[in-house]
Amino acid sequence: MAFAAVLMVGGAPVSASAQDTGLARTPPMGWNSWNHFACKVSDKVIRESADAIVANGMKDAGYIYVNVDDCWQGKRDANGVIQANEKFPDMKALADYVHSKGLKFGVYSSPGPKTCAGYEGSFRHEAQDAKTYAEWGVDYLKYDWCSAEKVYKPSEMQGAYRKMHDALAATGRPIVFSLCQYGLEAVWRWGASVGGNLWRTTDDINDSYDRMSVIGFDQNGLSRFAGPGHWNDPDMLEVGNGHMTHDEYLTHMSLWCILAAPLLAGNDLSKMTPQTLAILNNPEVVAIDQDAAGTEGHRVRQEGPFEVWMKALADGSKAVGLFNRGEDASQISVSFREIGLGETASVRDLWARKDLGSFTGSYAAEVPKHGAVLIKVK
Ligand code: GLA
Repeated sequence: MAFAAVLMVGGAPVSASAQDTGLARTPPMGWNSWNHFACKVSDKVIRESADAIVANGMKDAGYIYVNVDDCWQGKRDANGVIQANEKFPDMKALADYVHSKGLKFGVYSSPGPKTCAGYEGSFRHEAQDAKTYAEWGVDYLKYDWCSAEKVYKPSEMQGAYRKMHDALAATGRPIVFSLCQYGLEAVWRWGASVGGNLWRTTDDINDSYDRMSVIGFDQNGLSRFAGPGHWNDPDMLEVGNGHMTHDEYLTHMSLWCILAAPLLAGNDLSKMTPQTLAILNNPEVVAIDQDAAGTEGHRVRQEGPFEVWMKALADGSKAVGLFNRGEDASQISVSFREIGLGETASVRDLWARKDLGSFTGSYAAEVPKHGAVLIKVK
């Protein structure tokens, strides 16, 4: 189905038209190799991750894509066809294995001659690579700018992304198209119009509260650019990678769900603690991210280090995050009027999965240092 839309950007109308492939009606969920394995990824790592995602219940919770990030590429053959390197003996067989588990398979490339880690990119091989991916059975492509800056001007960026979108579309295989160019050129204004299903809005995340929180809380103001089929992407999850506290990971997951962010776990699934799994798999929290209305949340109020964020849900209720970026525990409250509700509302704690009862005027909770309370209010 083709769609055309007129977006208002900075007061000026911008025409956006692209093929609506019916993909990513809710933010994509899955796992990606980069945050934990970086270039230590292999066929074995991907197979084991696919096994784990089924065995630990993540697949049932909605984590469907198993994506190889950078470092899978080898050289091109005499005809220019991309080959995987020695760590990936047979990409088609790997895709088949992932599919046999009821999962979907993703790969990574660059519009430039080289990927960020220096492997072969798709420059001047776009149609050929798209065809190869489709033959392998690829369902998701992350397309990372990297060395493209050496061969394209910034003004040619949209064209470079559209070129690969059109090449993917020409294969006839539905392939989620993930733009990765770190938020350059205000990508949220045009990502959908070049066929992107998601686009990174920032430079890379890492497994620290400082980096995660700066990225996450900086997303405010981008919500009008997201919706079914096209999402802002504040980068992949670090939950479970070990360098944040439990409360900090609760903040990470709560905020990403309020942002309707893609949920791509980035930890080692074979060595996950029950606490990590409980964060990733909490069905009521994931449901906020995946809500059918596809509305990205926004900041309602900031009081120094305390922030109140809200995401409107399809059933008329509101998901509210109370975030404490300060160094001491503190009470944080939300008034029902400031989230567009009446005087009285019922509140459910989504991490505790417990109804808290009916409240008049407002609800307040004690929020630990760097922590979050996530509630559903109606
Ligand atoms: C860039 C991207 C990361 C990852 C690496 C791989 O830094 O932003 O998400 O894909 O490249 O080299």
